[in-house]
Amino acid sequence: MPSSEIEAKADFDHIRYAQLWEDADVLTDALGACAGGTLVSICSAGDNALAMLTLDPAKVVVVDLSPAQIACLKLRIAAYRTLSHPEFIELTGSRSCKRRLSLLSRALEETDAETRAFWNALAPDVDRYGIGGVGKFERYFRIFRTWLLPLVHSRRTIDDVFVSRDPHAREAFFDTRFNTFRWRLLLNVFFSRFVMGRMGRDKAFFDHVEGSPAQHVARRIRHAGVDTDPSQNPYLHWILKGTHGNALPMAWRAEHYDTIVSRLDRLDIRPGSLEAFVSTGEKADGFNLSDIFEYMSPEVFAQVYGSILSAAAPGARLVYWNMMVPRRVPEQNKERMKTLTDIETRLKTRDMAFFYSDFVVEQVRA
Ligand SMILES: C[S@@+](CC[C@H](N)C(=O)[O-])C[C@H]1O[C@@H](n2cnc3c(N)ncnc32)[C@H](O)[C@@H]1O
Repeated sequence: MPSSEIEAKADFDHIRYAQLWEDADVLTDALGACAGGTLVSICSAGDNALAMLTLDPAKVVVVDLSPAQIACLKLRIAAYRTLSHPEFIELTGSRSCKRRLSLLSRALEETDAETRAFWNALAPDVDRYGIGGVGKFERYFRIFRTWLLPLVHSRRTIDDVFVSRDPHAREAFFDTRFNTFRWRLLLNVFFSRFVMGRMGRDKAFFDHVEGSPAQHVARRIRHAGVDTDPSQNPYLHWILKGTHGNALPMAWRAEHYDTIVSRLDRLDIRPGSLEAFVSTGEKADGFNLSDIFEYMSPEVFAQVYGSILSAAAPGARLVYWNMMVPRRVPEQNKERMKTLTDIETRLKTRDMAFFYSDFVVEQVRA
């Protein structure tokens, strides 16, 4: 097996995720008390590894196969060091702004030459969308928002989504104003197996989903619109409007800014696979595994899971999401692990990154 199965499959030259689409409030809650411990995080765009610093660990080891994703974290570190919080959320794209290029170049002065060259090449896109808007994933959302959404909903309806309401009023708004015939038609077309295949999405990805992919997405959008409060949902705001509203992802909120800045030195960035960390012999007290398992075949998943356990201290928690493919502790490791069902259930109800079908918190028995 190569050091990682997906390393062999995917091309990592560009940014796939320019911001984290996994809810860090849920993640940090699930990891529990970790003060003084060693944590391990998949990098992606870096925001959740940064949010994990609020747990006061001795260090957060950050791994990613993709140099482009590591460059996202390196730029963020420099931005936290050089910018004020209001400037930082202008650079990210959370707030509209006309001085992004000067903020970018100030932050880049604090980085290494490679990171600077990488981001300088993206400067026109950063100027338009912010550093959180320049990935492939965000581009899909932009196409959806620019070309498809206006065919279905007026600007006024979209703005109305983010008015704070009680759960009863949210349901009424959703059923009468948002979940219209045209909206359902759009979902059915956009998430048809035909269109997904055309857009390069592997159809097998949806094989485990109950009903059609469009039905799955419709259920998750109901969670975002009715079960949770859209006015508090930064992810939904970005998808529908291209910026953040009052609510921000955890690592980008003012209340955590100084804490994160003061702990940046605790990040230990290791470009490469999670499997490489596991083979160092170090032990960690908690793992943020993003949704990496669903990119692996069941056999590779079981093998990687076992090797993570060999690098996990007693009591360590493994936290991860599944979007479409079911992954939970493999049969052969069940005896060693405890599933923290109460924590999962509590956190699933408030997970604002609504597109995942499952959230898993498993703990190594002490
Ligand atoms: C699994 S993807 C999912 C992204 C995510 N849903 C988000 O919101 O950002 C996150 C990152 O995991 C990295 N990755 C996947 N498998 C990995 C592995 N075995 N070791 C290290 N990084 C891995 C990818 O390069 C990618 O940047």
